[in-house]
Amino acid sequence: MKITLKVWRQKNAADKGGFQTYQLDNVSPDMSFLEMFDVLNEELLSKGEDPIHFDHDCREGICGMCSMYINGKPHGPKQTTTCQLHMRSFHDGQTITVEPWRAKAFPVVKDLVVDRTSFDRIIQAGGYVSVNTGGVPDANEIPIPKKVADEAFDSATCIGCGACVAACKNASAMLFVSAKISQLAMLPQGKVERKTRAEQMIAQMDEEGFGACTNTGACSAECPKEIKLENIARMNREFYTAKAKSENV
Ligand code: SF4
Ligand code: FES
Repeated sequence: MKITLKVWRQKNAADKGGFQTYQLDNVSPDMSFLEMFDVLNEELLSKGEDPIHFDHDCREGICGMCSMYINGKPHGPKQTTTCQLHMRSFHDGQTITVEPWRAKAFPVVKDLVVDRTSFDRIIQAGGYVSVNTGGVPDANEIPIPKKVADEAFDSATCIGCGACVAACKNASAMLFVSAKISQLAMLPQGKVERKTRAEQMIAQMDEEGFGACTNTGACSAECPKEIKLENIARMNREFYTAKAKSENV
């Protein structure tokens, strides 16, 4: 396949940045999107040029590192992570435009790499359990109904990639935060911090500069793990229930 790539190049956070065009003449349809970048970077390095910087780790759809905006969509045309996207999803001769996530809370570090430590700080604000859960329990020892366990697991599949923020016109992080709150709120181990968790994580989310939710649903539609909007409703319920019971009403 022949591909024209328009890639955002930015030396550092202070640089204005801009698009640079590259031609690739021998792209295999079976390459992943990141492998296509590997080939281009080999070429750039052999010419003594600066390779395109992008984040990646697992390349298996698990770590959430491979964040980039491809042809106007977070992670590209399929509802999957960029590392799991293959070049057969594009056609011969196509022009592909690649940009970093665009959000105030995700400043560009270099090229396609953004700083997502704002997500880490939200988790540090309340996305944990302090109870000693001991060793691995015997099967069926904790009486958690299957439906609840499945729902908690579905929420826990959020990989923290930030596509929800990139997809949202308000750069809201509500889908991510609500998934992290939900996975703990539904299980007994998560009850200890339940009264403070939502309030603290939402306060940190606001402090980081993420926008508000206006219920457009773009986050869930673009999420590679299909995290449901119901999580946002659950987060709001957790927040208002805790508020109503606290002295800070
Ligand atoms: S909710 Fe989905 S899009 Fe958002 S960080 Fe989690 S996995 Fe990524
Ligand atoms: S590199 Fe880990 S999810 Fe893509």
